[in-house]
Amino acid sequence: MQICGRPITLLLVSLLGSATSSPVSICTPAQPPLSQILPPSPAPTVLQSLPSPSPGLASASGASAGKGGCRLTVSPSTLVVRFGDPFTANCSGQGMDYSGLGWVVSPLKANPAYTMERFIVWTVNMTVWSLTLQCFALLEQDGPCHIDVPVIVYKPPDNVSISLVNHTGAMLEDRRYTLQCSVEGVAPVENLTVTFYRGQKALGRPQSCSSRSKEPVTEIFALNFTTSSEDDGAEFWCEAELDLGPEGPQHPPVVKSQHITAAVHFGPQLGCPTKLQVREGEILNCEVRGNPQPRVTWFRDGQVVALPTSSSRQHAGKYTVLAIGPVERKNFTVEVEVLGGGGTANSCNGYFLLAVLMIQMINWL
Ligand SMILES: *[C@@H]1O[C@H](CO)[C@@H](O)[C@H](O)[C@H]1NC(C)=O
Ligand SMILES: *[C@@H]1O[C@H](CO)[C@@H](O)[C@H](O)[C@H]1NC(C)=O
Ligand SMILES: *[C@@H]1O[C@H](CO)[C@@H](O)[C@H](O)[C@H]1NC(C)=O
Ligand SMILES: *[C@@H]1O[C@H](CO)[C@@H](O)[C@H](O)[C@H]1NC(C)=O
Ligand SMILES: *[C@@H]1O[C@H](CO)[C@@H](O)[C@H](O)[C@H]1NC(C)=O
Ligand SMILES: *[C@@H]1O[C@H](CO)[C@@H](O)[C@H](O)[C@H]1NC(C)=O
Ligand SMILES: *[C@@H]1O[C@H](CO)[C@@H](O)[C@H](O)[C@H]1NC(C)=O
Repeated sequence: MQICGRPITLLLVSLLGSATSSPVSICTPAQPPLSQILPPSPAPTVLQSLPSPSPGLASASGASAGKGGCRLTVSPSTLVVRFGDPFTANCSGQGMDYSGLGWVVSPLKANPAYTMERFIVWTVNMTVWSLTLQCFALLEQDGPCHIDVPVIVYKPPDNVSISLVNHTGAMLEDRRYTLQCSVEGVAPVENLTVTFYRGQKALGRPQSCSSRSKEPVTEIFALNFTTSSEDDGAEFWCEAELDLGPEGPQHPPVVKSQHITAAVHFGPQLGCPTKLQVREGEILNCEVRGNPQPRVTWFRDGQVVALPTSSSRQHAGKYTVLAIGPVERKNFTVEVEVLGGGGTANSCNGYFLLAVLMIQMINWL
């Protein structure tokens, strides 16, 4: 029993709350769209005979109206429809005493249907970008009441394309560039989300320029980013998604842009450790990276040298490499250690083996 107490209290509070906090009376006979579509014979008399109704009574908002005698329900409660598509709305006056049920539609002048049945269905091909839709009932007791039905007309973008602002060709490392994503012919733009990607990684989701247009617009979204060498060869793209909420299509419309492949000039970067170990007899090699490939000159003791193809112990020591890349020229110092034979650990084993052999030879002698 305790479990039931709370929800009921809450329900009462919410009923009181909604009764007091919605001072806008929707149930007013003076409302123009309502009188426009009322059937000619009985309705005007009903309207004229009405005393001015107390605000808040017999009005509805949302899926179902709980107040007064106005318990109209509309299915679906929010109409989300793609431009040009047909849709159907069903308004029901189940459990109400009324003399008629009908739709008010503006600006579509289509079938202003009116019925005395328990429900009324309205079907139309959506060919306007914004629509005011109400279902109304003429109550026996309280006169007219109505329910507003939100209508969202959407259209996926015609085209989504990505570009770099004011830049062509290769970019430079560690500089700031602006990507822009142009979304053409989308409605409603307030429900549009644009995401920039590098490969599969989302980079950012800039806000819309706060346009509230219900008609298709073209909007450009921008994202600043700073280049790094990893961006070289990376693919950038953007994606526009219409997020139309739970009443919207199950798979929200998504349009992806083309991919652009970034070329980032970077370097020089040293591609080997600054303390480089190499085995005796092996090639001494250290890559200096960059895009495009830097020009490198190796120095040892101030002399230009070629790196040995077969290292020996006298090749150990300090080397300097002067690398001239697209962005800058740099010197790196590499300290080379040449490991004997098969490396440090192996050479120990070698000496051990030699010792064993010598002991055996001594034994033989
Ligand atoms: C409209 O809704 C009413 C009440 O929910 C239901 O009885 C009726 O079958 C519906 N009509 C259509 C065409 O969906
Ligand atoms: C909607 O459009 C289709 C095809 O364009 C047409 O057959 C149908 O009659 C239209 N329906 C309404 C309610 O206008
Ligand atoms: C989309 O926009 C891009 C860039 O403006 C253009 O190159 C491309 O042809 C457009 N695609 C379509 C289908 O309109
Ligand atoms: C791009 O360049 C044009 C003209 O060169 C300039 O007017 C505009 O402000 C630049 N835009 C950006 C974002 O830098
Ligand atoms: C989409 O737009 C509707 C009204 O047009 C709004 O109620 C809803 O919150 C919006 N959804 C998002 C995710 O912005
Ligand atoms: C991007 O950088 C420009 C200056 O380069 C700045 O004016 C603009 O506000 C930045 N935009 C964003 C979204 O950070
Ligand atoms: C790099 O080192 C070389 C040889 O030591 C020297 O001649 C040159 O000036 C240095 N350059 C830079 C940019 O440090």
